[in-house]
Amino acid sequence: MSGSTASRLPLGNQMTQTLREILHSVSPYDEIDPEAWPDDLQGWGSDHPVLGAAIEKLRPKRIVEVGSWKGRSAINMARIVRSLGLECEIVCVDTWLGSPEHWLRAGPGWYESLALKNGYPQLYYTFMGNVIRHGFQDIITPMPMTSESAAAVLRHLKVTFDIAYIDAAHEYAPAKRDFVAYWDLLSENGAMIGDDYIIWPGVTQAANEFALERQLKIVGEPGKFVVSKGSGLTPAIGL
Ligand SMILES: C[S@@+](CC[C@H](N)C(=O)[O-])C[C@H]1O[C@@H](n2cnc3c(N)ncnc32)[C@H](O)[C@@H]1O
Repeated sequence: MSGSTASRLPLGNQMTQTLREILHSVSPYDEIDPEAWPDDLQGWGSDHPVLGAAIEKLRPKRIVEVGSWKGRSAINMARIVRSLGLECEIVCVDTWLGSPEHWLRAGPGWYESLALKNGYPQLYYTFMGNVIRHGFQDIITPMPMTSESAAAVLRHLKVTFDIAYIDAAHEYAPAKRDFVAYWDLLSENGAMIGDDYIIWPGVTQAANEFALERQLKIVGEPGKFVVSKGSGLTPAIGL
């Protein structure tokens, strides 16, 4: 077997590697000038205390965020990770192509935030610029893929996460698919936190159905829900 083939095969067993090392042969942050991109950390529910409380309780080694937009929630989690002195990688899965609500101008400035160039969003660079500006390149690893494709890659790599924060599509079918796919990527005592619970009907239906089908206890309030593989998490995080 040639050396180059052999070096590609054992990916799934290299559990000590970071996703950064596995996915990116050079730093994804190379040659990005943050000043060329807007200093704009728009987000929704990105600083909710449940994220910090879950990180404090679970002391994760790996977090996956599905749906990152401009990076506000990822940067919030990275700040908490650093303040606790944890060695933790936050993997951000997003197409950075926006969701229907952004293209359909459902909120002020949402369409403009896509930063279309030749008709193609440049939102990824807004995200990367924000991560660099706030100094979290060492913690945050971008994975620019659909949530479905990223889950397939992560499954293949046999990578698990201690926390999955799901905040991508808000329609019933893709939201349910994300809940199923990323729940199955959680470690033994891992927890999944979802955004927009009770606020977006598709998300709420998908989350409730998912929990029912898997016979899981779901706790939530308008904005966030949590399902956990371990016990004792939800009382500890105030939900
Ligand atoms: C609500 S925003 C995320 C906000 C972010 N969590 C925050 O609080 O700052 C939703 C993001 O999900 C992404 N997205 C939507 N559907 C997706 C999919 N199927 N796969 C990957 N990303 C998706 C969009 O590009 C968008 O950036």
